Amino acid sequence: MKVATTLAAALSLAPTATALNILMNNDDGFGSGNLRELYKLLKAAGHDVLIVAPATQQSGQGGRSDFSTYANLTSPAQYDIVPAGAPAVGTDPNDSSIWYYNGTPAACTFVALDYVLPRYYPGWTPDLALAGPNYGTNLGPFVYSLSGTLGATYAAVSRSIPAIALSASNSAVAYFNVTNATHPAALAAKASYAVVEQFINATTEGSAVLPLGYGINVNIPELSDDTLPPVVKSRLTGEAETDVAVYDEDKKTFTWGNVRPLAAGVNACYNGDCSLPGETYVVANGGISVSVFTIDYDAPSVPYTEMVFAKVESLFSAGSGRNDTEGYQTKPAQKKRMMTGRDVYRM
Ligand SMILES: *[C@@H]1O[C@H](CO)[C@@H](O)[C@H](O)[C@H]1NC(C)=O
Ligand SMILES: *[C@@H]1O[C@H](CO)[C@@H](O)[C@H](O)[C@H]1NC(C)=O
Ligand SMILES: *[C@@H]1O[C@H](CO)[C@@H](O)[C@H](O)[C@H]1NC(C)=O
Ligand SMILES: *[C@@H]1O[C@H](CO)[C@@H](O)[C@H](O)[C@H]1NC(C)=O
Ligand SMILES: *[C@@H]1O[C@H](CO)[C@@H](O)[C@H](O)[C@H]1NC(C)=O
Ligand SMILES: *[C@@H]1O[C@H](CO)[C@@H](O)[C@H](O)[C@H]1NC(C)=O
Repeated sequence: MKVATTLAAALSLAPTATALNILMNNDDGFGSGNLRELYKLLKAAGHDVLIVAPATQQSGQGGRSDFSTYANLTSPAQYDIVPAGAPAVGTDPNDSSIWYYNGTPAACTFVALDYVLPRYYPGWTPDLALAGPNYGTNLGPFVYSLSGTLGATYAAVSRSIPAIALSASNSAVAYFNVTNATHPAALAAKASYAVVEQFINATTEGSAVLPLGYGINVNIPELSDDTLPPVVKSRLTGEAETDVAVYDEDKKTFTWGNVRPLAAGVNACYNGDCSLPGETYVVANGGISVSVFTIDYDAPSVPYTEMVFAKVESLFSAGSGRNDTEGYQTKPAQKKRMMTGRDVYRM
């Protein structure tokens, strides 16, 4: 209680962050109506906003970071905003703050940080990364790993940038077809903005929007007007979905379905507050869910974890303990490059 009170006092006294540098991305493509509506709201609020988002629809890519092997677009960008043959990374001819890149959402995050910003905006570092709002919700740990919106988000978190994934329940619309403030894309952006604005306003000048390694997953139910639905503190696990492979005997192919009954594995709660409702449940009941995640995916330090390590205890070399000064944990003079699954994939 004391900590909370002190923190609240500090927040009310210190000046809040005003104009932030905000880097936007998504997985639906840089011409997304949802993305552009939120971009407009953030700019209208005085923030310095840049979009670096996929040139085409890139849903379902998760955290996959795939770069184009061509210097130029081999086909036109989304909605023919940019023609084939144009550079694989460039700007919308109508807005030089809106960049596209012909890669996955996570690749766009990295291209933004390592190419677009240093070359074209030297000194501009993002205070916050936003992905979305996505067309369709991204709920639970399984979808977290699948979603390009989340992939763009946790890629930013991995690069020490506070990041928020935003997902709504409306369907795809080109930005130039969002013509009024009651369009579902405009409503999705407005609800997203309401949550993002709170995070920004509650951040004091000079401090980070989120602690290192932290990200936020926001999901928005279907909206019929601009009344903000109840916003609910939630968690990723809890009534979350995962897939089942559904076999078609005639076609001899598979498609996915939601496993029933709900799987226990995807809903196991070890980290965070297990009494919070799952985000899947919150959105199903008409609320906006706000879940906090970290990209420290290690199991918590509980007896289960010790039990798991204990099974292979005899394999662990002497000196693998954390407190050993002579052992493995002391930094090796030369870091050896490790072979990863990605190396095999690239071969
Ligand atoms: C790629 O784009 C650059 C810049 O627009 C252009 O100069 C070049 O001719 C293009 N190359 C191809 C193969 O289209
Ligand atoms: C983009 O720019 C072109 C050329 O100036 C113009 O014809 C078009 O209407 C613009 N589109 C939008 C959506 O602003
Ligand atoms: C934009 O709206 C028009 C009119 O409803 C429609 O014909 C067109 O297909 C839409 N464009 C896109 C890219 O969705
Ligand atoms: C706003 O746009 C939506 C979707 O295109 C349309 O259904 C609605 O009639 C429009 N409302 C107004 C007031 O123009
Ligand atoms: C956030 O701060 C801005 C700028 O001070 C203010 O206009 C706005 O009302 C605040 N929003 C909320 C939700 O507190
Ligand atoms: C490391 O040190 C801490 C604090 O001294 C102790 O609690 C812990 O058990 C030690 N861990 C190992 C693996 O020796």
